[in-house]
Amino acid sequence: MTELSNLILDRIRDVPDYPKPGVLFKDITPLLADPVAFAAVTDELAGMYEVDKIVGIEARGFILAAPAALRAGAGFVPVRKKGKLPSETLEESYDLEYGSAVIEVHRDAFVPGERVLIVDDVLATGGTARAAVELVRRAGADVVALAVLMELAFLKGRERLTDVEVRSLVVV
Ligand code: PRP
Repeated sequence: MTELSNLILDRIRDVPDYPKPGVLFKDITPLLADPVAFAAVTDELAGMYEVDKIVGIEARGFILAAPAALRAGAGFVPVRKKGKLPSETLEESYDLEYGSAVIEVHRDAFVPGERVLIVDDVLATGGTARAAVELVRRAGADVVALAVLMELAFLKGRERLTDVEVRSLVVV
């Protein structure tokens, strides 16, 4: 176990039965509240690749992607839930446990061929990340990798992302 993964794991709080019975929620707010740990995570994400843009996935992905983009000297691009972006968008739907959801990106968010890192807090079933990869590619950019703070390995999200480099700071 690396020093960074210990720093992260010590600051993730398990909340049983949230948001519904039987789910063990991984709460990252203790990590965010610690400036040393938050900076270490930001630095790690910012230093992973040379990219033009860092994409954050709403909502918790924004918290990690925006400071990483600043630190990396890259632009920040939001991928948002449907209906939240004001200009012309591309959209992708993905399956949830019950029903489906849609995420969007601005059609002009990237210059064709730009190198992009996608960032989120958690990789669970991989549905969100899969849709984000498709969106960014359809918008004309090159997805260099997907980076997540935490991978929930038992949900096998990585198996839906075999065509993308996936980097997790911790695997639980
Ligand atoms: C969570 C998390 C990831 C996604 C992972 O977001 O932040 O984006 O679920 O799950 P998956 O791999 O099974 O798709 P959520 O949809 O809860 O949105 P939020 O960040 O706005 O709470």
